[in-house]
Amino acid sequence: METKVRVISGNEEIDNLIYEEAKEILKKGGLVAFPTETVYGLGGDALDKEASKKIYQAKGRPSDNPLIVHIADLDALYKLSVDVNDKALALAKKFWPGPMTMILKKSDIVPKETTGGLETVAIRMPSHKVANRLIKQSGVYIAAPSANTSGKPSPTKAEHVINDLSGKIDMIIQDDTVDIGLESSIIDLSEDIPTILRPGYITKKDFEEVLGEVRIDPAIVGEVKPGVKPKAPGMKYKHYAPNAQITIVEGSIENVVDYINRKAKEDCSNGKKVAIMTTDETKDLYNDYHKYILGSRNDELSIAKNLYKVLRDFDKDGIEVVYSESFENVSAGQAIMNRLIKAAGHKVVTVD
Ligand code: TXA
Ligand code: MG
Repeated sequence: METKVRVISGNEEIDNLIYEEAKEILKKGGLVAFPTETVYGLGGDALDKEASKKIYQAKGRPSDNPLIVHIADLDALYKLSVDVNDKALALAKKFWPGPMTMILKKSDIVPKETTGGLETVAIRMPSHKVANRLIKQSGVYIAAPSANTSGKPSPTKAEHVINDLSGKIDMIIQDDTVDIGLESSIIDLSEDIPTILRPGYITKKDFEEVLGEVRIDPAIVGEVKPGVKPKAPGMKYKHYAPNAQITIVEGSIENVVDYINRKAKEDCSNGKKVAIMTTDETKDLYNDYHKYILGSRNDELSIAKNLYKVLRDFDKDGIEVVYSESFENVSAGQAIMNRLIKAAGHKVVTVD
């Protein structure tokens, strides 16, 4: 199949045609990738089970890994869920539109194909103008996982979507203004104590300010062990991983630099192509290996925004071994470390 790539130009007449074209595709059960404020999504009609099946197929995604349904107004929340409780309303009021996904009991109109067989549904109201307009203008609730091949880093640029899904989907709407760069925070409200299933831009502290007690799914922090089932099925799969083996090194900065310089030299002399994932503040401390600078430690959001692009660059540049600094496991750092640890297949070395 030929995948059309349409660029949002800011010219209303042209852009309107793009949204109309996307609407036709979605109404017919086709797939359209589009930008959101977190990452690009791969959209299909959430109420059309055949469209959901196509999403799984295009991504190579296991069919027990449910999709997030994207909406543009609160009416939709009541249509998709039979249990819009006070907590859900309080969160919606505070964080929507924005990078938050809520898990609620689903209504009958949501097919099990969209929810991976579950009785709950994940719902998000994105703030990105393209996502918002696409949902409104097409009149469709849009099921959309991240628009990457399953297992690869989520796409933050149209180029990433093209690399992964060209030839497998109908259309890509390009507007490279993805801002956050990591997927939405997911919170499960289907049980008594709200539980964070995936950390993101909206932090535990943010949720606590609205809800009081909030738990974090244990599967997020530690390695997922056989028999321990994470509540978000997606969290059990290897994720965000480039071909290179990443090792995260934690400890005092002197020890980290020392360890990385030593190991990089060793790997280099064994003929490996080595890269170091570092930051503005620390990059000059390393010897002359391939350095990939994530951003500034004083601005963790810059690091979140660049992480997936850098992970993809490793593959593009044929990198075989990566050493990465680590980040503090609080606020935005928690979302960064969650993704980084998965990208490294949990390979973390402590050097203190
Ligand atoms: O920022 C985002 O959330 C992006 C953009 C496109 O909106 N979407 C995204 O979707 O990251 P995806 O499919 O890559 O991740 C969805 C996660 C998966 O880990 C999945 O298992 C979990 O949400 N999930 C979906 N429905 C669920 C449910 N009913 N119960 C538990 N977890 C659920
Ligand atoms: Mg994903």
